[in-house]
Amino acid sequence: MDVQEDLTLLDCMNKIKWTLDGSLTYRMSCRSAICGSCAVKVNGHATLACQRQAAHLAKDDTIVLEPLGNMKPIKDLAVDFKPFWDKIDKVKPYLQPKQKAPEKERIQSPEQFKLIDDSSTCIMCGACHSDCNVLEVDENFLGPAALAKAQRFVQDSRDGKTLERVKNLSKPGGIWDCTHCGECVERCPKPARPFDRIKEIMTVALEQGVTNNNGARHALSFAKSVKSSGRLNENIIPVESVGFFNFKGLFDLLPVGLRMFFKGKNPPILHKSIDEVEDVKRIYMELDE
Ligand code: SF4
Ligand code: SF4
Ligand code: FES
Repeated sequence: MDVQEDLTLLDCMNKIKWTLDGSLTYRMSCRSAICGSCAVKVNGHATLACQRQAAHLAKDDTIVLEPLGNMKPIKDLAVDFKPFWDKIDKVKPYLQPKQKAPEKERIQSPEQFKLIDDSSTCIMCGACHSDCNVLEVDENFLGPAALAKAQRFVQDSRDGKTLERVKNLSKPGGIWDCTHCGECVERCPKPARPFDRIKEIMTVALEQGVTNNNGARHALSFAKSVKSSGRLNENIIPVESVGFFNFKGLFDLLPVGLRMFFKGKNPPILHKSIDEVEDVKRIYMELDE
């Protein structure tokens, strides 16, 4: 098909549907990157079909179109969004206010609104959900879109359930199961940038003292190790992550530890600091101020 320079990918899909094959099935509505309905995989990565010019996507005169990942295709490029919406539902995506409704609106300062501004831009397109590598292997993971939506309420100054929310989000399948790959940020067509939002929830969870879980313990142990020696103490971090008195967890670590030992991959018993450790400590001090 001839593709003019100014055609979007969605224009090309429409051209195929309207002139070549009327049975081609996909979703679309606004054609302006607002409604979030036209997300598809292009050359292996999720994107909004109406936001990209087709001529820029062609590789060797070919564009490979596929349905979004991590959801079942229904027909051609249309997928079943039910698992996506189920995960959004799980994070209670609505305000649970601190106080009774006032006579007029609940006021926020510009600074308070700034904390939830980016996550409010999510258009529920599913591009991040499609390409999240944890969702590929763990359907229990809440996923980037639901976690970005969760941050929208965790940091809403009018919400009264912050502690309850971060406790729930710290359970298995929540924030600490993210592998920090950043793929969702690459795929997101808006400033919602889910991984950035996940890091914000992690910070709130630690500030609220929700630390009795492997993920939080791991983050704290990691930071402590770098701060004191400039490098990771790989003997201590796994133990601190599962918890000193979690005997079952410690016992579960044994086979990995033994395999590493017999393959000569165990870290040195005596942990040494790097030469520039004072510089690292200074960076931490500046961050703490
Ligand atoms: S950063 Fe986390 S949520 Fe985002 S794609 Fe990677 S694993 Fe998924
Ligand atoms: S966070 Fe971004 S990529 Fe994910 S659903 Fe929302 S707009 Fe789409
Ligand atoms: S058609 Fe609405 S976002 Fe593409």
